[in-house]
Amino acid sequence: MAQRTAAPAGVERELARLPKGLREHVQRVRVLARELAGALGADAARVELAAAGHDLARAVAPDELLREAERLGIVPDAVEAAAPILLHGPVAAERLRREFGVRDAQVLQAVRCHTTAHPGLGLVGQVVFLADKLEPQKTAGRPALDGLLDLAARDPERAIAEYLTEELAVQLQRGLLLHPRAVEARNAFLRSGSVAGRVEGRRRTVSRKGAPSRSAGRG
Ligand SMILES: [Fe+2]
Repeated sequence: MAQRTAAPAGVERELARLPKGLREHVQRVRVLARELAGALGADAARVELAAAGHDLARAVAPDELLREAERLGIVPDAVEAAAPILLHGPVAAERLRREFGVRDAQVLQAVRCHTTAHPGLGLVGQVVFLADKLEPQKTAGRPALDGLLDLAARDPERAIAEYLTEELAVQLQRGLLLHPRAVEARNAFLRSGSVAGRVEGRRRTVSRKGAPSRSAGRG
């Protein structure tokens, strides 16, 4: 697949400094986001920029994320204050805006909300969210997510609802805090996802024995 990029050179330099595993994850997200954008008719340049920038702050330690958020004028909500990793999207979006001149509202929303989604998430954000959650390494060992990528390519809203239903169930099982925006997004997309998606949707598997062991839903 072509490696063309819509990301500013400064973003590429930032990416090059990320830890290897994270750099490789971002590359997989960029590839998958490009494919989904093509299938769904999403704006390729916006999707590429948001996919490239979404995890710029993912390697920042929790305490430092809280300091960065304060420096950037981001006020953490109660769940973000308790789980600062959730701030890596908002911090990355604000850095893209301030340091790299990104002004596109869809791109900034996609980056800001890529961890929890958002009930008003636009198509660019939907593509980036799904690519982030469904890239091969993140779905490996999670059979509950089987079939979601196919669904994403034809009904992204339904796929987000399905993903969040599964993910929120896992977070409940693990005793984690739920972010209200993720619950609101799940409810919103459950209502708006197509009837076709609902009828064709995969069998619910959240009640299977054992939750995935990998960290879930915070990336
Ligand atoms: Fe990511």
